[in-house]
Amino acid sequence: MVQIAVLGHGTVGSGVVEVLRKNHGSITKKAHDEIHIKYILDLREFPDLPYADKFVKDFSAIENDPEVDIVVECMGGLHPAYDFVKACMLKGKHVVTSNKELVATKGAELLKIAREKNLSFLFEASVGGGIPIIRPLYQCLAANEVYEIAGILNGTTNFILTKMIREQMSFQDALDMAQKLGYAERDPSADVQGDDSCRKICILASLVFGKHVYPEQVHTEGITNITLEDVEYAESLDGVIKLLGRVKKLEDGHLSVMVCPAIVGRSGQLASVEDVFNGILVRGDAVGDVVFYGRGAGKLPTASAVVGDVIDCVKRLEYKKYLYWEDGEKGYVKDYRETS
Ligand code: HSE
Repeated sequence: MVQIAVLGHGTVGSGVVEVLRKNHGSITKKAHDEIHIKYILDLREFPDLPYADKFVKDFSAIENDPEVDIVVECMGGLHPAYDFVKACMLKGKHVVTSNKELVATKGAELLKIAREKNLSFLFEASVGGGIPIIRPLYQCLAANEVYEIAGILNGTTNFILTKMIREQMSFQDALDMAQKLGYAERDPSADVQGDDSCRKICILASLVFGKHVYPEQVHTEGITNITLEDVEYAESLDGVIKLLGRVKKLEDGHLSVMVCPAIVGRSGQLASVEDVFNGILVRGDAVGDVVFYGRGAGKLPTASAVVGDVIDCVKRLEYKKYLYWEDGEKGYVKDYRETS
């Protein structure tokens, strides 16, 4: 039996517990072992839940319990998530996380610790919610020189833009709805100002090109200034407005990375990505274009990706050794406005 601890019982953490409980039988078969939730760390009380006895408020109970093999971080935000994750890894625990901010800012450091200690540090849920994208990039598409990735990487902003386009709903009403549906970040400014998309394109760029791309290196614009007039203007050009994240490899080996709203032609594949869905276009020299599509946010889609990582962790798959990138050097990323 493998004992795990879940850090955070919010939208994603509660989804992880739900999926592990609901699909316990089939997950046990696929993992070739039983996964038992020993602790759930949350400061809130959930007395009515059938697993209320698992809740703890003190992180040291988890950190210092040698029986806990895997820690599943679903708290979000950089602190204390980073401190907790690092402490657990230094104690020899594997980590699965859905935390984009953590991976986008500390990925190189945490992957180095994982490599040195022969641990898994897995983060499939950090980009694209339920869409498999991290694993396909470092496994199935490993034969390729990937030269460009462009995508709709934030479900909340895509939901808002879709409501504005289809129903002429105001920005604020659409944002309120996205929050109620559990798509938005705790502080939704990270969604609407483009920071969430920025973190995700940084993770994809780091993974594919092998050197850490930091969010502060990326020109980022959100959708807060987009009006219904802009939406109509895009329509008059037979296009739709989408918040895109893009990374391109330049001929000199540097990267051009950006996040900003763009008009995409109605007949293009990304135009048909609506509501909370994400769409990610990957261009490789051997495979050509591949598009990944699915639910980019929400409790169960994100939990699906997290639990998939937990199962791989339990199976001790050796490919964890190949999920790695180095720290980036200065000047590696160029401002896309100077490069396009
Ligand atoms: N707030 C994020 C989004 C959640 O809307 O895409 C998933 O990363």
